Amino acid sequence: MLLEINDIDVRYRRNHAVKTISLDIEQGEIVTVLGANGAGKSSLLKAIQGTVHLSGGNVVFGGENISHWTAPKRVQNGLSLVPEGRQIFVSMSVEDNLLMGAYSRKYGDISAEIEAVFERFQNLKERRHMSAAVLSGGEQQMLAIGRAILARPKIMMLDEPSLGLSPLLVKQLFELIKELNDDGLSILLVEQNTHMALQYADRGYVLELGDVVASGTPENLLADEKLTEAYLGDG
Ligand SMILES: Nc1ncnc2c1ncn2[C@@H]1O[C@H](COP(=O)(O)OP(=O)(O)OP(=O)(O)O)[C@@H](O)[C@H]1O
Ligand SMILES: [Mg+2]
Repeated sequence: MLLEINDIDVRYRRNHAVKTISLDIEQGEIVTVLGANGAGKSSLLKAIQGTVHLSGGNVVFGGENISHWTAPKRVQNGLSLVPEGRQIFVSMSVEDNLLMGAYSRKYGDISAEIEAVFERFQNLKERRHMSAAVLSGGEQQMLAIGRAILARPKIMMLDEPSLGLSPLLVKQLFELIKELNDDGLSILLVEQNTHMALQYADRGYVLELGDVVASGTPENLLADEKLTEAYLGDG
């Protein structure tokens, strides 16, 4: 197993955001995490990335318990998060934003990899010296993904990447995720676009108020009428 989340628990002062969640990802899988606003999806990803404190449970990556690793160490070792809302640096150029993705790298020809990202995203290439502030929503999302690619991840976690994109861009985004996966990248995808996510994922988990209420293949999840009515109905 590439990544194992065992009984993790995340508490903020008054909110118990994640209550004993377990999930796993095998090498090469696309796994999606679904759930309504406030279900604990982002908290789960932050716990895996190491940017929120774990009140219980552990995170095992490549067979090693990494629960006590710092977030930068997790990035360095192949866990890369494309955060909710993209969080690109609007005061920096497009190219410098990409460079930030490689800040923790110790090796490799970064300039060649930046060019490879630009080849993939022509819109970004044309705007490489412009401020990232000029980018459209879709271009910003591509930049955030490009930045994550430059960290050379083994697992890319994406937090609601399709939010705010047009249907055409959403389709292109999912095709890109599929391409990255075909190249060997394992994907943990948080989405509220359940229809698209279940079309591309190998497996899914549904969260409600910090707990996993269902998990399985897209076929299994979509066959459960109570589930589709309650959580998966927007597709
Ligand atoms: N920094 C924080 N301090 C206090 N409570 C928080 C904090 N971050 C999140 N929460 C609470 O934890 C719960 C889970 O939040 P989280 O952001 O993980 O949900 P989510 O599933 O990602 O929601 P959304 O789909 O709206 O992004 C919510 O009740 C939220 O209000
Ligand atoms: Mg969220």
